[in-house]
Amino acid sequence: MTLRLLTAGESHGPGLVAVLEGIPYGLPLTTADIDRDLARRQLGYGRGGRMKIERDRVRFLGGVRHGRTLGGPIALWIPNRDWANWTLAMAAEPLDAVLAGAGTPPLPPGPPGTEVEGAGASAEGPGPKDGAAEKGTPAGLGRTDEAHGAGGTGRASAARQGAAATGDWRMEPVTRPRPGHADLAGALKYGARDIRDILERASARETAARVAAGAVARKLLSLFGVRIQSYVLRIGQVAIPSPVLAYGEGGRPPVDPARLEAATEASPVRCPDPEASQRMVEAIRAAGQAGDTLGGVFEILVTGVPVGLGSHVTGDRRLEGRLAGALMALNAIKGVEVGLGFAAAALPGSQVHDPIGYRPPGATPPPPGVPAEAARAGADGWRGPAAGFFRYRNGAGGIEGGITNGEPLVLRAAMKPIATLRRRLPSADLLTGEPFEAHHERSDVCAVPAAAVVAEAIVALELASAWLEKFGGDSVDEIRRNYAAYCQRLATWVRPAAGDDKAGGARGIGGIGGTGGAGEAGGAGARGAAGQGGAAGRRAGASPGGTPPAGTGGSADGGDPAGGGTGREAR
Ligand SMILES: Cc1cc2nc3c(=O)[nH]c(=O)nc-3n(C[C@H](O)[C@H](O)[C@H](O)COP(=O)(O)O)c2cc1C
Repeated sequence: MTLRLLTAGESHGPGLVAVLEGIPYGLPLTTADIDRDLARRQLGYGRGGRMKIERDRVRFLGGVRHGRTLGGPIALWIPNRDWANWTLAMAAEPLDAVLAGAGTPPLPPGPPGTEVEGAGASAEGPGPKDGAAEKGTPAGLGRTDEAHGAGGTGRASAARQGAAATGDWRMEPVTRPRPGHADLAGALKYGARDIRDILERASARETAARVAAGAVARKLLSLFGVRIQSYVLRIGQVAIPSPVLAYGEGGRPPVDPARLEAATEASPVRCPDPEASQRMVEAIRAAGQAGDTLGGVFEILVTGVPVGLGSHVTGDRRLEGRLAGALMALNAIKGVEVGLGFAAAALPGSQVHDPIGYRPPGATPPPPGVPAEAARAGADGWRGPAAGFFRYRNGAGGIEGGITNGEPLVLRAAMKPIATLRRRLPSADLLTGEPFEAHHERSDVCAVPAAAVVAEAIVALELASAWLEKFGGDSVDEIRRNYAAYCQRLATWVRPAAGDDKAGGARGIGGIGGTGGAGEAGGAGARGAAGQGGAAGRRAGASPGGTPPAGTGGSADGGDPAGGGTGREAR
């Protein structure tokens, strides 16, 4: 991996740190670039009380000067506002020193607006002084967010004595592991007798640091017209189909990415379908009222990706493996699909593999955000530069043989329901083995919309790594030059045969689409150039259009399977 990321910090510690190494010199970068994504991660119907407390803002501790990166490691700092309530329970000093009143070092100052709140406020709502139920222990142990695990009635410990001495319920050792969390496996693995030693780091609070680092990677990719977005497809039983897999006629992009993003960000659950959004909200509300939690599925769409990231040569360079591995490493993710994913296993090859077409690139002016050199090589705001080659659909999700093929990347991930349930699950005390019902924990009911935002960051980091492997240099300028040279090669890759210098037509298969029917050759995807496209297709030996639609069971490679041209280049 060209980029290296290390994060540190506990859920209720002073804050989170991310150190990102490998970002080149000269990338324009401000805290606003990062805070935007940090804020998006905190949204979504179904989040717990913690998100009402934290207002994540980043501060650069190194690697950035006057709004540009310096080429060294970038150190990012996100203060935990809730730290003020946990200075004793999460102190770095030995417990006896804490109890002796040694105190904790002052919190490093955050950027404006992140000042730590007074000790009366907590992540979970009113602080101990506001509610009798919160005073002392173990009653207070019922009030938690994700990282505040179940309370314990296990044997006395120094921490328990500390709780008694200070009156701070947060000092109580946590001994009741939550099923579905890292609590029990982590405690046994590390020999921790207080589950807090495990859950503070296992908490998804850590993902704020990944989001911050991912925003830097996203900024780098954005310079080249690469755009990463996500949206929710399923929460519990409420689901919508992927809006991006079924292409229009002639390989026409199925949606406008900007409109998809606007619809997504307007939804309380980040689902672009307003009606489904409403049903998802209701499902979350019902689950919360029943003391239960919900998982779901989200999709990540990356447009503007050039052909050629990743590689077929070794397993560890195959891009889908790297992306899927990185996404599986996100808390609570239990499955990842690329393109058609598991659905491909049930379909014949003719309906899975994406027929190839060609349009001479650069005929239209580049859309906003697409660099001119990329547009000359075929980038159009949906596809990235790929020498004018394109697909009539995108079952591969933009990756073949471990290499990007110029179509958008389409990845889906399945998130399990939140492990902290108000409807108690059976568990056993870590220290005594005594059976009990898991304590109620205040927590997220559903975090699928937030997980999707984290996943964007994860994909950004992995793609930026692959980008730097392909186009890498010490500075952004150098990378731009490398990228421009690559685009130039792609732009001039196809040499028109003698007497065929017409630009603008879709060459080869003219009428394949996800949903189109016979006689739709030269449809919307080849609009304005159907005549020339048809002519080129005949010259190339492919069907002259009128082909059956690939998505409805027709021949995927046109009406004349023996016709040669693109269809005959089988491996
Ligand atoms: C954005 C996000 C928020 C989460 N919030 C919570 C939460 O509030 N409570 C909880 O118990 N788990 C929460 N989780 C899930 C836990 O972090 C995760 O289930 C735990 O680490 C164990 O998952 P694993 O089996 O995938 O490791 C959240 C996950 C993500 C990605």
